[in-house]
Amino acid sequence: MKIRNFKISDSKKLSKLNLFCFKEHTKHLDFLKLGNDKNYIIFIAEFKNNIVGYLVARTIKGNDVCEIISIAVQPNFRNRGFALKLLNSLIDFLKKINYKKITLEVSNSNFSAINLYEKYKFKSIGLRKGYYLNNIDASIMALDI
Ligand SMILES: CC(C)(COP(=O)(O)OP(=O)(O)OC[C@H]1O[C@@H](n2cnc3c(N)ncnc32)[C@H](O)[C@@H]1OP(=O)(O)O)[C@@H](O)C(=O)NCCC(=O)NCCS
Repeated sequence: MKIRNFKISDSKKLSKLNLFCFKEHTKHLDFLKLGNDKNYIIFIAEFKNNIVGYLVARTIKGNDVCEIISIAVQPNFRNRGFALKLLNSLIDFLKKINYKKITLEVSNSNFSAINLYEKYKFKSIGLRKGYYLNNIDASIMALDI
């Protein structure tokens, strides 16, 4: 298991993984574009040289808050700690550049993701009513680092 930085040549594989993991959602990402944008941080989880997960986060210039845009792990590789490792890598990186907070938005029906963030001591700081498909609410969560 290894976490590494994104390379432009990963874009196609990541788009496939993103589509596969968020079939019913609207979170489809253009990795080529994001990878060329300095405000975005992308970490890759690899197992035996295969990409099995990713984390995308956005930093905002002049701000010390980072927003997690998307995190996903291939279904066959879930529950093995890949998401925790991706989050650890993000936090280590952000501490080095003096960031103080991470925020994110998660569907209230996404129990595995909510458990993941709560395990990390993210706290719910707000709600977006009916934000997702089928009128499901979104929770805004935050973690001080
Ligand atoms: C959410 C997701 C990224 C978790 O990835 P993962 O690699 O399986 O997570 P980890 O193995 O690191 O698990 C870490 C913790 O998350 C929680 N968790 C993960 N999967 C869970 C599940 N199916 N049910 C309940 N809790 C779960 C647990 O607290 C777990 O810790 P534990 O194993 O000690 O109980 C993965 O399920 C996924 O890709 N889902 C689809 C995409 C998605 O919804 N992304 C999040 C929204 S942006």
